[in-house]
Amino acid sequence: MPDINIGDVTAAYEGAVGVIWEMLMGEQIHVGGEEETDILARVAGVNAGTQVLDVLCGLGGAAHHLARTCGATVMGLDATGRMVDEAVLRTANVGLGDRVAFRLGNALDMPFKSGTFDVVWGQDSWCYVTDKDRLIRECRRVAVPGGTIAFTDWIQTGPMSDEELHGLNTFMLFPYMETLPGYENLLRRHGFAVRECEELSEDFASHMRRYRDSIAGDLKGRIVELFGTDAFRDMERGIGLWVEAADEGKVGRGRLVGRKQ
Ligand SMILES: C[S@@+](CC[C@H](N)C(=O)[O-])C[C@H]1O[C@@H](n2cnc3c(N)ncnc32)[C@H](O)[C@@H]1O
Repeated sequence: MPDINIGDVTAAYEGAVGVIWEMLMGEQIHVGGEEETDILARVAGVNAGTQVLDVLCGLGGAAHHLARTCGATVMGLDATGRMVDEAVLRTANVGLGDRVAFRLGNALDMPFKSGTFDVVWGQDSWCYVTDKDRLIRECRRVAVPGGTIAFTDWIQTGPMSDEELHGLNTFMLFPYMETLPGYENLLRRHGFAVRECEELSEDFASHMRRYRDSIAGDLKGRIVELFGTDAFRDMERGIGLWVEAADEGKVGRGRLVGRKQ
């Protein structure tokens, strides 16, 4: 496993990484944008008044969407100061301050009381967490009895050499990736009844190719201007590795939903 810790990830999100991923994916920094958020909201049962905790919320794009479209109340948790500051500013700008708030903190030691949230939520970001067992334990702790855990994440879907895996994880700053059965086991181990465990890898490679093409095409000038040629080359090379691995069925995404028992 690459030696990546929370300090490496937050340093990256303080700088170029957060900006470039927003350029590629939009304010909701996950594959599939608001469509994926709508699907997860439906399967998680997010409704008017649902108290949602978005764990590793990034810029708060999904939190805004859930508040606007479902009438949910959303707390976002993220460990990067720049991401939380942006999320707070953007929330005030769109007038959602009465239903959406953010806290700076580590998902492995959440600054919330036990039994607080109806839905504990995450999208394409738990791959950054160094200890997923402890993460799921924390999610269970802060969920109300009978509450829901609902998340998507980037996962390993096929065998890989250590070198290949190291290259993918180091570029993305993932300490390691889970597999879908690995996440399913973690949910069960921490007392969740698994309601959905679905692989979403079918279109993962096409999303990766689209990101690679944007980097090499319309975004190239801006990335070079803002962050320099070396950052651009690193990005191009790293996304290339992900396109290759996705094409070969070695990486993808999954969606899991469980109920706290
Ligand atoms: C891809 S972004 C999140 C995108 C967000 N889920 C969305 O859909 O818009 C990943 C975020 O994870 C945060 N992060 C990484 N490790 C963390 C941890 N242990 N605790 C809290 N936040 C963390 C980073 O600061 C970054 O903002």
